[in-house]
Amino acid sequence: MAQEHKVNAGILGIGMSVPDRVLTNEELERLVDTTDEWIFTRTGIRERRICGPDDTSASLGAAAAIKALESAGVAPEELDLIICGTATPDHPWPSTACLIQQRIGAFNAAAFDLSAACSGFTYGLATASGFIQNGSMKRILVIGVDTLTKQVDWSDRSTCILFGDGAGAAVLGPVGPDTGILSSTLGADGRGYDQIWLEAGANKAPVMISLIAEKRQCIKMKGSEVYKFAVKIMGEACLQSLEKVGLTSDDVDLFIPHQANIRIINAAAERMSLPTEKVFVNVQKYGNTSAASIPIAMTEALETGCIKKGDTLVIVGFGAGLTWGANVIRWSRD
Ligand code: UT7
Repeated sequence: MAQEHKVNAGILGIGMSVPDRVLTNEELERLVDTTDEWIFTRTGIRERRICGPDDTSASLGAAAAIKALESAGVAPEELDLIICGTATPDHPWPSTACLIQQRIGAFNAAAFDLSAACSGFTYGLATASGFIQNGSMKRILVIGVDTLTKQVDWSDRSTCILFGDGAGAAVLGPVGPDTGILSSTLGADGRGYDQIWLEAGANKAPVMISLIAEKRQCIKMKGSEVYKFAVKIMGEACLQSLEKVGLTSDDVDLFIPHQANIRIINAAAERMSLPTEKVFVNVQKYGNTSAASIPIAMTEALETGCIKKGDTLVIVGFGAGLTWGANVIRWSRD
């Protein structure tokens, strides 16, 4: 009898793209009643990137995708599917995934957007993993991209200091057993839909002058509620994901959490009893880039030698929805 050969999805290549324009805390001091000291001690952020006039989610996403394809040695026409995790599509429709497909010339790929806010990349990896494991697809591009600074209320000091723009992308393909994406844990709690949200701009509340006057087309957030939720859910989701494959925190070589706030990252790492040297942090450079933060952090972790073949990584995201997602990944390439 033929032995069943379980195929996993592995990350074959990864890349990132951020806009050139750096916005520092000092510049924000001139915009709202804040200080570099407050922002850095409460969030860990020193600066973030913001879109120039020509930057959009599609342009940043395509730039990250091209780098990921190069790093994977995969041609655009080999892609079977493009999944774009974004809360900031270029248009309500068509999907930003289709715009990226057009920009990179991946005309053999199906394409769709995935709306899970900051958890978009972790949701995307879990979704792509299913298609590869069931054998229906061989090459999938998963992108996490957001341009939230276009939706920020620049007079609201509690939110405008947090966000930055950027994109990260990964090319997935089949790898052997016990490597690649070992497990995923996804979750949502729609009861918290208004803890961080953008009310206007879609069909229930199309953008109108009256809504703009109330800034209802801008991000609104109950910061401390989101903070408490994040600290609890990040550790829980990671431990569940590890448990699914018989692992514990002791087996983790590198923890790459959503880069929203250094205090949230540290609290989550503490819940998982992880020492700081096993936690990757770059929130100081980019702020919260939403769906892009994890693939950007993974790209920088790889480029700085923090990830080696065979390492066990745990990534975890949380965000609007409320949503969360964690993946345990055994790194399968050099
Ligand atoms: O991807 C998910 C996205 N969201 C998040 O991850 C957000 C999660 N939440 C947070 O990161 C934190 O709640 C914040 C960084 C947003 C706020 O930090 P905090 O320690 O929870 O501060 P707070 O909201 O409790 O505010 C403390 C004080 C308040 O003043 P009073 O009422 O005590 O006088 C705020 O008005 O800090 C004030 N404050 C500021 N002061 C200077 C709020 N924002 C600022 C600011 N500069 N930028």
